[in-house]
Amino acid sequence: VYLGIDIGTSGTKTLAVREDGTILASATSEYPLSTPQPGWSEQEPHHWWEATVATVREVLREGKVKPADVKGIGLSGQMHGSVFLDQDHQVIRPALLWNDQRTAAECAEIEERAGGRKKLIGMVANPALTGFTAPKILWLRNHEPKNYDRLAQVLLPKDFVRFRLTGEFATEVSDASGTLLLDVKRRAWSGALLDKLDISKSLLPKVYESEEVSGTLSPVAAEALGLPVGVPVVGGGGDQAAGAIGNGIVRKGVISATMGTSGVVFAHSDEVQIDPEGRVHTFCHAVRGKWHVMGVVLSAGGSLQWYRNQLGHAETAVARGMHVDPYELLSAEAATAPAGSEGLFFLPYLTGERTPHADPTARGAWIGMTLRHGRPHLIRSVIEGATFAMRDCLEIIQGMGVPVKEIRLSGGGAKGRFWRQVQADVYGQKVSTINAAEGPAYGVALLAAAGTGAYKNVVEACEATIKVVETTPTDAKARKVYDASHKVYQQLYRSLKADFK
Ligand code: XUL
Repeated sequence: VYLGIDIGTSGTKTLAVREDGTILASATSEYPLSTPQPGWSEQEPHHWWEATVATVREVLREGKVKPADVKGIGLSGQMHGSVFLDQDHQVIRPALLWNDQRTAAECAEIEERAGGRKKLIGMVANPALTGFTAPKILWLRNHEPKNYDRLAQVLLPKDFVRFRLTGEFATEVSDASGTLLLDVKRRAWSGALLDKLDISKSLLPKVYESEEVSGTLSPVAAEALGLPVGVPVVGGGGDQAAGAIGNGIVRKGVISATMGTSGVVFAHSDEVQIDPEGRVHTFCHAVRGKWHVMGVVLSAGGSLQWYRNQLGHAETAVARGMHVDPYELLSAEAATAPAGSEGLFFLPYLTGERTPHADPTARGAWIGMTLRHGRPHLIRSVIEGATFAMRDCLEIIQGMGVPVKEIRLSGGGAKGRFWRQVQADVYGQKVSTINAAEGPAYGVALLAAAGTGAYKNVVEACEATIKVVETTPTDAKARKVYDASHKVYQQLYRSLKADFK
């Protein structure tokens, strides 16, 4: 049995998975997020540790998993967050998270110190974005110098939990890629950029491949979790790479489109492929010696969630009485409007946008409304707008020469027939769903199985456990409508961009 632990933004999820991929037990525990100032987003690292202990204990309490049967642990988590530790291994201040927006000035500073955006991309494969870790370190130096003077270690969220589990300061290549300090090509810290930023390498943990064993359970941690001392803990992965492993995205040509709150288009790549404009991220994959490219849409499912919360009260109430998912009712209503929503467009930039615009000031909008439009059009246009944003990511990735032979859907956008069909028609390609869409915790349980010898490698682990269960073909008529609508959708942002500022 292997444990996969995912330190998410809203909570931690632990899964116990048998070698053949069967899920034996699952537990989740939530924690708060604080926004001390507009645009700030922080969490207390000790909450992650407490949630880890609680969920592992709950998984064991169900009785289906015996502590002695646990052969390995994999860690996944929200990427980019900064845990600052002092010499005595104490947390200096709350961690700045991936969705924290306070570091615009530090991003500019990084570009400047690196000798420009092009040089920066040359060193670490990516441009500086406010959510990444390096600008957070500079922010500490610029704004909290006393705290910076105490700084002895910087860890990513899941790697703080690893430290509590094993006593080791370690990370792995996929999550390390999102710090902006990794030479993604060489899969090692970038000495060149660290020098330019005047950051000491001693602040950073040792880097492993994702399936490598990075340490073993210490006596103190074993006691806290109720597990035997010495259980190996593998590198694991940032939540996107780990989720991709969980979807079986481990070969060229297979890509995933995941619609949670955010939307991510993720492609496996055998070589380092970089968008010279830096619109998509190029990171190391959790597959040994491989990479991935991904585009991130900040409010994909989040846009429909916003609609439900603000305008979908009727559906939510009816859904409660009928014991169904309110999204099913929203989809059923949307399906009564035609593809293209009769010229009504929705821009899904409710929290700014990362791919393709990297524009924190972008805003959401409905455009093209007439008397003909009713609620079905409003809902359908939100779903279509979020899916157009995903197509933007897909087109950039294809434009880089990454082949797209199979698109696997996961997250909320994969649940209902209607949104699956919209995705097939907007992407212009058939889409599929898989058996065990359990996300990052599942992916790192497979990495633990591979890293401790149950499989030759994680590719073999995925192929033994993950199967396509359903395929949705495209509808030729809807495809044609969407090809034309997507062009208008792209033009609308260009026209409105200046007015969002
Ligand atoms: C990836 C990203 C998010 C976080 C939080 O670049 O910012 O996926 O990892 O889940």
